[in-house]
Amino acid sequence: MDTETKTQMATEQMTDMDLSEQIKKVTKESHIRAENTELMMSFQKAQVTLQQYKLLLCSLYEIYLALEEELDRNSNHPGVAPIYFPAELARLEAIEKDLEYFYGQDWREKIVVPGATKRYCHRLRQIGKESPEFLLAHAYTRYLGDLSGGQVLGRIAQKSMGLKSSEGLSFFAFPGVTSPNLFKQLYRSRMNSVELTEEERNGVLEEAVRAFEFNIQVFDDLQKMLSVTEDTLQNCSTHSKPVQMLQI
Ligand code: HEM
Repeated sequence: MDTETKTQMATEQMTDMDLSEQIKKVTKESHIRAENTELMMSFQKAQVTLQQYKLLLCSLYEIYLALEEELDRNSNHPGVAPIYFPAELARLEAIEKDLEYFYGQDWREKIVVPGATKRYCHRLRQIGKESPEFLLAHAYTRYLGDLSGGQVLGRIAQKSMGLKSSEGLSFFAFPGVTSPNLFKQLYRSRMNSVELTEEERNGVLEEAVRAFEFNIQVFDDLQKMLSVTEDTLQNCSTHSKPVQMLQI
């Protein structure tokens, strides 16, 4: 079944619900799939490696660069203004700090961006230009995720990678949000205040499912890159042929 049909079936049974309830419902299955990706499982089992985390940061940098530039550019759009919280939520500077910590000052020349990440960013740019109200679906997927499971993942990441302080983990910290739960309530009420036609609302719900799908593909792509690197390393130790390796 394609994404559009699935979303349509789910929305038929919930026309009375608020957008925040609908969006949670239509993305429930995708959330389970995202949690079960190899990368997210590594986090949950407290087995995330420095290589995994560094590569994830590279992708997150590109994703938040596109998302936040498009949100900034469309901050007065009626579908964006109510959920525009740059002071509380913006992640870009935090990610830049983490990248500098792990890769050094010349991190911009070293970051690796897999194909799935480029496709996700391309979509963000496209909707920023053509249908800014769909940005709500992407902002919801990333920011509410970061404020939910992301909070636990940060503590796990610190332990798994044996980091002594929270250096390199700024991405997980939201100094502008005192209570993630209260903030999520506010965010949901703002989402519910956005006026959308039925067609636009269905489009937003469909886009949220797509946003989760993009994230899953980014995680899978990243994991694939790492397994190729590991194979290369193994080949290097068994054969003496010089093989060009990915610097992660
Ligand atoms: C909410 C866990 C990965 C997006 C939540 C909540 C938990 C959680 C416990 C709170 C549920 C509630 O308040 O009812 C996890 C864990 C993950 C994970 C353990 C992986 C290890 C992800 C990913 C995304 C995501 C990869 C998207 C990219 C969301 C969103 C919400 C959420 C948007 C808010 C749901 C709502 O209240 O509408 N997650 N999550 N999560 N998560 Fe995740």
